Amino acid sequence: MDRLELIQLLISQKKLRNYLEIGVENGHIFFRLKSPFKVSVDPKFIFDTMRKVGKTILNPYNLTNQYFEKTSDAFFEQDADRVFTSTKLQLALVDGMHEYQYALRDVENTLRYLNDEGVIIMHDCNPQSEQAAGRFEDWQEGVWNGDVWRTVVHLRSQRPDLNVFVLDTDHGLGIVTKRKPSEGPNPNVLDFSPAQIQSMSYQEFDRSRINLLNLKPASYAYEYFSLQPSSLK
Ligand SMILES: C[S@@+](CC[C@H](N)C(=O)[O-])C[C@H]1O[C@@H](n2cnc3c(N)ncnc32)[C@H](O)[C@@H]1O
Repeated sequence: MDRLELIQLLISQKKLRNYLEIGVENGHIFFRLKSPFKVSVDPKFIFDTMRKVGKTILNPYNLTNQYFEKTSDAFFEQDADRVFTSTKLQLALVDGMHEYQYALRDVENTLRYLNDEGVIIMHDCNPQSEQAAGRFEDWQEGVWNGDVWRTVVHLRSQRPDLNVFVLDTDHGLGIVTKRKPSEGPNPNVLDFSPAQIQSMSYQEFDRSRINLLNLKPASYAYEYFSLQPSSLK
């Protein structure tokens, strides 16, 4: 299972009717999704009008897409209240700037518009090397996941009102959902301050990644969301 499969399963089986993608690039994921209300945010889209038209012919759901060519911070400041006035958000992919504080703001801003059953997926939570987890300024080539892993540790430490775990697939798919009062106290909280999280080294992370990320096999998604693997295709 990768992010595309998971998103498609959630849309089709859980009947999620809208979708926000932060960090869209060429629309590789965004344009394929069959959802009647799709919102895209990226300071630099890697597609032009012709690609939008072509993708709409292939997938008519793209006719109603909303495009915001700006940073996610600007989108939440200037547009989100209007875009989500009458529609509570049900599904979001947070895949913009892969740095701790950026990803944290994206998740926290998205949570303000998410309905109680909504799902946030964070890409790139499980870097496999120190280089992949390095700073954007230092990145030269190859995979760059950044330190979104710190955002996962932060949410697990500071937001006991959320369920947070990472699926061990596709560079680590972080899952964030709102807990219900009926679930009782959260058994999966961590106890790190933002300063401790910021100063944690990659080696410390690597030694405890299963615990820090609440890392689960990809198949856990079927159990957690009550999805049917049979309709994967
Ligand atoms: C890895 S790509 C996204 C890939 C896409 N979600 C997919 O699954 O195919 C990351 C994107 O984040 C965008 N980005 C960078 N900084 C951003 C910001 N502050 N707000 C929103 N998007 C940002 C980049 O322009 C880039 O297109």
